[in-house]
Amino acid sequence: MGRTQHALLTHKTTKSPHLQTYIVHVRQLEKEVFTSSEDRESWYRSFLPSSVASSEENRMVYSYTHAITGFAAQLSEEEVEAMKGKEGFVSAFPDRLLPLQTTHSPSFMGLQPDAGFWKDSNFGKGVIIGVLDTGIFPDHPSFGGEGMPPPPAKWKGRCDFNATSCNNKLIGARTFDSGAKAMLGRPTAEAPVDDEGHGTHTSSTAAGAFVENVSIFGNANGTAAGMAPLAHLAMYKVCFSGGCADSDLLAGLDAAVEDNVDVLSLSIGGFSIPFYADSIAIGAFGAIQKNIFVSCAAGNSGPYNQSLSNEAPWILTVGASTMDRRIVATVKLGNGEEYDGESVYQPKNFSSDLLPLVFPGASGKPGAATCDEGSLNGTDLSGQVVLCLRGGASGRVEKGAIVQAAGGAAMILLNREEDGYTTIADTHVLPASDVSFMDALKIVSYWNSSESPMATIIFKGTVLGYRPSPTVASFSSRGPSLASPGILKPDIIGPGVSVLAAWPFQVDPANPLLTFNIISGTSMATPHLSGIAALLKSSHPDWSPAAIKSAIMTTANTTTKTFGAIVDQTMRPADVFTMGSGHVNPSQANDPGLIYDLEPMDYIPYLCGLNYSDAEVQSITRYIVSCSNYTSISEGELNYPSFSVKLGPTQTFSRTVTNVGEANSSYTMEFWWPDGVDVIVEPMVLVFGEVMEKKTYNVTFSESPSSGKSGTFAEGYLTWVSPKYSVRSPISVAFE
Ligand SMILES: *[C@@H]1O[C@H](CO)[C@@H](O)[C@H](O)[C@H]1NC(C)=O
Ligand SMILES: *[C@@H]1O[C@H](CO)[C@@H](O)[C@H](O)[C@H]1NC(C)=O
Ligand SMILES: *[C@@H]1O[C@H](CO)[C@@H](O)[C@H](O)[C@H]1NC(C)=O
Ligand SMILES: *[C@@H]1O[C@H](CO)[C@@H](O)[C@H](O)[C@H]1NC(C)=O
Ligand SMILES: *[C@@H]1O[C@H](CO)[C@@H](O)[C@H](O)[C@H]1NC(C)=O
Ligand SMILES: *[C@@H]1O[C@H](CO)[C@@H](O)[C@H](O)[C@H]1NC(C)=O
Ligand SMILES: *[C@@H]1O[C@H](CO)[C@@H](O)[C@H](O)[C@H]1NC(C)=O
Ligand SMILES: *[C@@H]1O[C@H](CO)[C@@H](O)[C@H](O)[C@H]1NC(C)=O
Ligand SMILES: *[C@@H]1O[C@H](CO)[C@@H](O)[C@H](O)[C@H]1NC(C)=O
Ligand SMILES: *[C@@H]1O[C@H](CO)[C@@H](O)[C@H](O)[C@H]1NC(C)=O
Ligand SMILES: *[C@@H]1O[C@H](CO)[C@@H](O)[C@H](O)[C@H]1NC(C)=O
Ligand SMILES: *[C@@H]1O[C@H](CO)[C@@H](O)[C@H](O)[C@H]1NC(C)=O
Repeated sequence: MGRTQHALLTHKTTKSPHLQTYIVHVRQLEKEVFTSSEDRESWYRSFLPSSVASSEENRMVYSYTHAITGFAAQLSEEEVEAMKGKEGFVSAFPDRLLPLQTTHSPSFMGLQPDAGFWKDSNFGKGVIIGVLDTGIFPDHPSFGGEGMPPPPAKWKGRCDFNATSCNNKLIGARTFDSGAKAMLGRPTAEAPVDDEGHGTHTSSTAAGAFVENVSIFGNANGTAAGMAPLAHLAMYKVCFSGGCADSDLLAGLDAAVEDNVDVLSLSIGGFSIPFYADSIAIGAFGAIQKNIFVSCAAGNSGPYNQSLSNEAPWILTVGASTMDRRIVATVKLGNGEEYDGESVYQPKNFSSDLLPLVFPGASGKPGAATCDEGSLNGTDLSGQVVLCLRGGASGRVEKGAIVQAAGGAAMILLNREEDGYTTIADTHVLPASDVSFMDALKIVSYWNSSESPMATIIFKGTVLGYRPSPTVASFSSRGPSLASPGILKPDIIGPGVSVLAAWPFQVDPANPLLTFNIISGTSMATPHLSGIAALLKSSHPDWSPAAIKSAIMTTANTTTKTFGAIVDQTMRPADVFTMGSGHVNPSQANDPGLIYDLEPMDYIPYLCGLNYSDAEVQSITRYIVSCSNYTSISEGELNYPSFSVKLGPTQTFSRTVTNVGEANSSYTMEFWWPDGVDVIVEPMVLVFGEVMEKKTYNVTFSESPSSGKSGTFAEGYLTWVSPKYSVRSPISVAFE
């Protein structure tokens, strides 16, 4: 029943030099019924070349049960070619390495300990969140078991730490590293302990316990807690420094489904590929078939459009936004001008006396403008404040270390145009400040025009209530979706900039035991949404993954409390390809009024409509599928809570909403139609008499002969409104 993991034996040395790990999808024929995992595995083995199957050499890496019908094995290209002739073979893909998408947030999200949604949802009590990541640092107070109930009876997983580290909070921890070992060509730490920090951070963001008196360099102080502080955590370590192998990811997903988790959180993602070749998409489909909600990172490749990861419609695709907290480090120039930037590291002993300001980039030396490794060799920056552009070959914190090694006293990190106004509070190793692009222009201009430019940094600590907030982070990946342009992505944005959460290592020497760190990425936004999904699962155990997703999307905020529309890194209103439905509003998601529901089977006509072959559809859904037996639907006809329309001929889409609000209720249509488009909704009023009643409406899009379109895209929304509820769907229209 469970999947089995095999040690890799001698493959890398003598026998077969050209072996690599392949993920092999096969098709179960009706005659094949497996009563045990051994049966299944021996059927999988029958696909291996006979010379291999009979030899002592163990080429099987993973034998999967839930994530895919198939296995991972060490094979040569010729062997894969030979396998293609076998009955039941579907496809084989070489293993890939996918990158990771590297406090205060509960109250920013409107979660208060003593009232409202947190209390109503019991803080996620009884729900299990599975996190696929770099492992976890088990003995952190965020993962203490005190006050936690035992895991629910359905839990079948195991925890590979010792009995003191595993408890009722951290109920599961395992490592899957066979794929990474083969691809990285080096051993990995097999214990599920986190030697990176990423997995500890994401886990505690989703479900960390309440921890009092947290601070970092005196900043961001307060009580830290994950979104679902009473939910259980299970770590599946599938990522290592260097990345996460598809084959290990599938093994982790396989185990999580077998273990009966309720929510899966994946802060991992590669570039867009078709769903039948995308392990996360395929594994996530296996999860939703077991009613497990899946939240995944949108990616950190913004602000460029078409840069998304994890585009499948059965996944919640999460972009990153800023909060109203800044950790201010003000740049003061010799001319008296001051510019507020950010840094977590705020040393008390840094003098506010002006120091010489230098820009290594002026030398024209390659990499010097971005202070890359090696570019400052031979340059003496002693006692100077150094200007470094973001980007290039080095990370933001790494630049500081390079500047420090060259003697620099401080660093001003200059946002590029694409970084805009998104400043990031990092745990720098020297006095530093990240300033916006607009401020960077002024600082560089001062440097350029002054005979002897001077600057310093003044540390001002934590500022709450910063406006505007939220804003979309510059790095948050943007749509449109490439794999399925007819589904609007990303789905949602949540906090992903300068997020405080648990960390395995000491960061602030003043706080050696309570180790927390502040980091940024859609990786940080994803577990916020996973935790919120756990709260929703706790308060609505009967909701499907699609229902939870619909509730989150149709209730999202599109405006800020004080600033009007949510803006992006340019301070202009964020479009639908930037923020999807908007910023998550957890309390509202708990009571959405109407939901757009979907069952796993509903995706079959959609996948057929993407023109995938029967075998491709089947490798995702694992149902025996013949598209000719289904009426294919266009992407726009999937019962999705948003619309992405390519306008050519007139198109009509039906949507079905389920009443989860008041029994007797009536909804009318409120809308803002995209410019250049005629839209007709029928009917314009939906009347319900019962809870769980369903109503269908049609939306027809056609090119408007009268109103002018400008550009290639237009956007709008439609909202079903009752006296109590507002159920909003964003619309994007692409003109041919
Ligand atoms: C979302 O909107 C509601 C209502 O305007 C507001 O109370 C809440 O603070 C907003 N949430 C965020 C994160 O801006
Ligand atoms: C359990 O493991 C932790 C490290 O994860 C270690 O510090 C502790 O000493 C171990 N306890 C026992 C009883 O082995
Ligand atoms: C947190 O700090 C407050 C005030 O300094 C103190 O009263 C309280 O005991 C501390 N709590 C913990 C858990 O250390
Ligand atoms: C954080 O620290 C500041 C300054 O020390 C203090 O005024 C504030 O009350 C603290 N906040 C919390 C939540 O402890
Ligand atoms: C993609 O980016 C370009 C340049 O920034 C912009 O002009 C275009 O409108 C964008 N496309 C979409 C669909 O947002
Ligand atoms: C400030 O304090 C830090 C840590 O205590 C120390 O490493 C650094 O040298 C000090 N800097 C100055 C300018 O005194
Ligand atoms: C720069 O200096 C570092 C440390 O001294 C050295 O490892 C590196 O090779 C040098 N790089 C170049 C390009 O000279
Ligand atoms: C400095 O100013 C000169 C003259 O205006 C200009 O040509 C040059 O591009 C500027 N350099 C930078 C780095 O802005
Ligand atoms: C699928 O093929 C049909 C017929 O060729 C075409 O009209 C449709 O646009 C294709 N769909 C997609 C998503 O490519
Ligand atoms: C498709 O329909 C045909 C005719 O009804 C039936 O014989 C066949 O089994 C169906 N195939 C699948 C995969 O459902
Ligand atoms: C809904 O309205 C109908 C007819 O007006 C009434 O019979 C029914 O009791 C109402 N249901 C609820 C739950 O109020
Ligand atoms: C929606 O459209 C379908 C097909 O075009 C039609 O059969 C149905 O009656 C329409 N429903 C409504 C409520 O207009």
